[in-house]
Amino acid sequence: PPKTTLHTLYQLHASRTPITVLTAYDYPTARACSAHPVDITLVGDSLAQVALGLPSTTHLTLDALIHHTAAVARGTTSPFLIADMPFGSYHTDVPSALANAVRIVREGSADAVKLEGSSPLVRSVVRALADAGIPPVAHLGLLPQRVAAMGGYRVQGRTAADARPIIRDARLLQAAGAVALVLEAVPAALAAYITASLRIPTIGIGAGPHTSGQVLVWDDVMATWEGHKAKFVRRFADVGAEVGRGVAGYVDAVRRREFPGEKEGYAMRPGEWEKLMQ
Ligand code: KIV
Ligand code: NA
Repeated sequence: PPKTTLHTLYQLHASRTPITVLTAYDYPTARACSAHPVDITLVGDSLAQVALGLPSTTHLTLDALIHHTAAVARGTTSPFLIADMPFGSYHTDVPSALANAVRIVREGSADAVKLEGSSPLVRSVVRALADAGIPPVAHLGLLPQRVAAMGGYRVQGRTAADARPIIRDARLLQAAGAVALVLEAVPAALAAYITASLRIPTIGIGAGPHTSGQVLVWDDVMATWEGHKAKFVRRFADVGAEVGRGVAGYVDAVRRREFPGEKEGYAMRPGEWEKLMQ
């Protein structure tokens, strides 16, 4: 299939075809996302926990994100490639945020970048990115980069008072130039309402079935993540169990001297052994 562009994504959105998004963190996962092509691969900063073993996304550096984005880009054919801007890379001022996004595009080969929240600074960064021709993807609802300030990973917008600012922020981000909006862990009715009130597509995770698309974390889908399983996660394969079988089988075969077998090695050329032993 040809390369998915923003134009392709808007066509899917216009025809109400659900947009499929999966995270990827390295070359093989990017290849898998390209082979059964998803519409978008996202180098999420969930990379921090699921691929790097860090305690939260706030520990991810810009250099690490770029390193992994470049690997994903090398394995990506058709999917549109979005990379998360790490915590701290867009939180001080607009010029440094723009410079960091330029690095993600230039060194990481991302098509677009994603930012969490809707502070006045974040909206200014979104505007600057749009002006620079770097498509900004917004992210509202549960914001993992603010886990400390939010008091944990919790559903957002369950009361009218909590939902109102999310609706307002969604409109402000669209007006600032966001090309799409990720909605994480919000009630389905709220996500449906926001989706209906925006021109840009929404991508939901724990946001019900009425968003323009869905995203899940690779390791949740494949059951390779052994940490917390959120309510919205569905495991579509049990790769974790298969990997366990592989490791246990290898270790067992080596210990029993069953591996390697004769066909899994090399012989001397005929007569050479005798010559060597003379
Ligand atoms: O980091 C991530 O994987 C994400 C998605 C879950 C939206 O931001
Ligand atoms: Na993220």
